[in-house]
Amino acid sequence: MTILAIESSCDDTSAAVLVDGKVMSNTTSSQKIHERYGGVVPEVASRQHHVDIVPVVNHALSLADCQLKTLDAIAYTRGPGLLGSLLVGASFAKALALALNKPLIDVHHMKAHIMAHFIDEPKPNFPFLCLTVSGGHTQIVKVISGTKMEILGQTIDDAAGEAFDKTGKMLGLGYPAGPEIDRRANLGKPVFSFSETKLPGLDFSFSGFKTSVLYFLQKEKLKDPEFINKNLDNLCASIQNAIVHMLVSKIKQAAIQTGITEIAIAGGVAANSGLRTALLNMANQLDWKLYVPEVQYCTDNAGMIAMAAWFKLQEGEFSDLAASPDPRWAMDEA
Ligand code: KG4
Ligand code: ZN
Repeated sequence: MTILAIESSCDDTSAAVLVDGKVMSNTTSSQKIHERYGGVVPEVASRQHHVDIVPVVNHALSLADCQLKTLDAIAYTRGPGLLGSLLVGASFAKALALALNKPLIDVHHMKAHIMAHFIDEPKPNFPFLCLTVSGGHTQIVKVISGTKMEILGQTIDDAAGEAFDKTGKMLGLGYPAGPEIDRRANLGKPVFSFSETKLPGLDFSFSGFKTSVLYFLQKEKLKDPEFINKNLDNLCASIQNAIVHMLVSKIKQAAIQTGITEIAIAGGVAANSGLRTALLNMANQLDWKLYVPEVQYCTDNAGMIAMAAWFKLQEGEFSDLAASPDPRWAMDEA
């Protein structure tokens, strides 16, 4: 069985070909245009997807040495994401499915981030816990099967990726700031501390932390206008340390609460080296089996959409042409 998958939920246009559960190609065009605005501009993203989608799909097909006539199903991200961006991928997938007379599979973006773990070895065993941390989401999910998942906790305000990007912006870093904070954190020391919100249960909150960084910087800049420049690496290390601490303490709590010791991380922030190291240390201490995907499968990519679609296909879960993209598609409705 051959699946062509398309991802266009935010600012990456991506296509992948999967054959019998194996990702044969996975190619992404990342939109650089948003850097100058300090964040993704939805209307611009949608127009750029429109420009990129045909070449990206053709590239994925040719890398996999695959022709349109050999496809058995077309998969696409139906949500959550930006409506204008989702519409481009969904319309393209529907048009292709109609023209080729092949079935459609609608994929939930956050479930797909988790299913990225099934692209390479080692694969987690069900049930496992997944900490999914991206620019739009922060969740702890109990993964019961390839299609059945339950959210145990999530952020009540900003996502972890936003906490990186927004505090990075306060430091004068470009968008997205997460990777640059990560790079600089490795050159500095976490000498500054910020207030961390600790909600009861497994939910997260990052807005208080963000405000605490803002007030701290304002206060220090009054004393020394060059404070940020002089302390940039240490500030990055301190911000990363606080965010990682908030994430790791909740996944530890979830593991204790559920008794599950198969732990995975997913989403763009899973690329963070501080988070990876902290989880590896915890896994050693608590005898967890930790699953960390390759960086190319952490950030948005169609390989993960193809893998999630493969599980849906095996369950006979297909979509139809009437299904609309859903920017707020709930995980338990997908
Ligand atoms: O999953 P993703 O590619 O897109 C969605 O949001 O769905 O995640 C993007 C987020 C951005 O906030 C970016 O700053 C963050 O992931 N990110 C990182 C790192 N690489 C990407 N954050 C911290 N450290 C990194 N190395
Ligand atoms: Zn994502």
